[in-house]
Amino acid sequence: MSTPAPPKIRALRHVALRTTALEESVAFYSGPWGLEVQERTDDAAYLRAAGPEHHVLQLHAADRNALDHLAFALPTPEEVDAAAAWAAAEGATILEPPGRIDRPGAGYGFRILDPENRVLEISAYVHAVAERPQDVPVPRKVAHCVLNTTDIDALTAWYTRVLGLRVSDWSEHQMVFLRAVGDHHVIAFNQAEWAAPNHVAYEVANLDAWLRSIGRLKVAGHETAWGPGRHGPGDNAFAYYVDPAGLVPEMTAEVMQIDEDTWMPRVWPRIPELSDLFRTAGPPSPHIREHMGGVPDPGWA
Ligand SMILES: [Fe+2]
Repeated sequence: MSTPAPPKIRALRHVALRTTALEESVAFYSGPWGLEVQERTDDAAYLRAAGPEHHVLQLHAADRNALDHLAFALPTPEEVDAAAAWAAAEGATILEPPGRIDRPGAGYGFRILDPENRVLEISAYVHAVAERPQDVPVPRKVAHCVLNTTDIDALTAWYTRVLGLRVSDWSEHQMVFLRAVGDHHVIAFNQAEWAAPNHVAYEVANLDAWLRSIGRLKVAGHETAWGPGRHGPGDNAFAYYVDPAGLVPEMTAEVMQIDEDTWMPRVWPRIPELSDLFRTAGPPSPHIREHMGGVPDPGWA
């Protein structure tokens, strides 16, 4: 038996949100946003992107906006079992022990709670879907999820220890970006007054596909709520919107790729020339800040 070690999470698979406007949101994300409904129930929708992941976004009807759960990817059931054992040894609350997942997408996984009561699913062997043509400028995967937290240091310590994620950069002591493999970040935390989902980012193939996506949304009547611009930390192009329920999605491209052997995290001062490398976006408005702040999310109950 190998020595216990933190899991090596490979990717963020999907983000599940609770939404106060299910039908309107399904129409928005499967319409101008560029996702496609993979499975539907009366009170939930599972939407895929162009890539092979079964779904990248779940929407669940609810009476308040919230995060339902985040799903992270491991390659094998053996690594899932080892990750569950590691999390238990680190004191994490196990909601579901490792086993077959009896939900759309299936696979083999387990669920735990983070220190702010968020549900995290770690899985392997999820059902594949056929990739959509890459010449269509639509999202190919979920890029990252940013979460508001009341204790950025405690949460960073927990996610690095229990999930094995690594810090890529800080934005002063306000935001921290954590990576799995490759992409600069799969999740980020934002110090705030209450826990809530801040935004979910979807990646398109390149800057051309990104601008065409902004154009498709504009033609459909959806203006950016912040952007277009380009972030300093992560170097990714950004365009933020407000969805029909008031949740915030981001269209992004060209996320920085990290070389594990040479990367050294930096602390980015929050000044205009580092917050938007394009200098096209300007500072976020009170309107988008309010939506990114969201409403207090008590998490799993
Ligand atoms: Fe983002």
